Amino acid sequence: MEVVAAWERYAQGRTPRREVNSAGARTWLNWTQYPDHGPDESILGDVQGRTVLELGCGTGCNLAHLSTLGAMCTGVDIAPSQQGKAVARWGSLPGLAFHTAEVTDYLSRTEGSFDVVLSIFGPVWFTDPERLLPLVRRRLSPGGVLAFSHKPPTAGTRPVGRPGEAKAVTRWDHTPEEWSALLASSGYSDIKAEVVPPPAGKDAGTLLVRAYT
Ligand SMILES: C[S@@+](CC[C@H](N)C(=O)[O-])C[C@H]1O[C@@H](n2cnc3c(N)ncnc32)[C@H](O)[C@@H]1O
Repeated sequence: MEVVAAWERYAQGRTPRREVNSAGARTWLNWTQYPDHGPDESILGDVQGRTVLELGCGTGCNLAHLSTLGAMCTGVDIAPSQQGKAVARWGSLPGLAFHTAEVTDYLSRTEGSFDVVLSIFGPVWFTDPERLLPLVRRRLSPGGVLAFSHKPPTAGTRPVGRPGEAKAVTRWDHTPEEWSALLASSGYSDIKAEVVPPPAGKDAGTLLVRAYT
């Protein structure tokens, strides 16, 4: 409950994403913390006709883009107000559904299978990977991909989160090498974990990970 309240406070404090990006697009997918920067959805392969689950979708802006490309999309977020905002903004798009749920609860009870599971600065960063990674893998179709991004750990900021800490939100701040080992031990293959360099004038890059069933 404390965690729900913390993410709801976060949701209340967020400014909605701008309507149009620098390329003039109304929908787009951004893996990084910087606008108009880094790889786009093409790193997932062709998403047309594929089933996609986003963990921690917020107001659904990234998922909406995949829906415009013909994917059948499901978004899950723990903060109750995010679902309403996502539906208000993107509800007219086809093949797009949003749910309010904690991701391990959702993954434990859903019977759906997904070709793509993604998480952008989302719960893969905020959930014990030893619990989450096997749950995701169980719901991925053969050949399916888990892709996620978050800020890379730095000497000054890690270790940040520890299971059992008296903090509302714990962060699992792993390096690319640590993510690769965790994913391999949960049975994933073709693992690619990298740091996307930051734009000019910024210090922090973005950790981007892909792994297949
Ligand atoms: C930093 S925000 C990123 C939101 C969105 N992915 C984006 O790129 O704008 C993290 C999101 O993950 C959600 N979240 C965090 N932990 C979660 C969990 N265990 N289950 C479901 N959603 C969670 C939060 O409510 C929040 O919307």
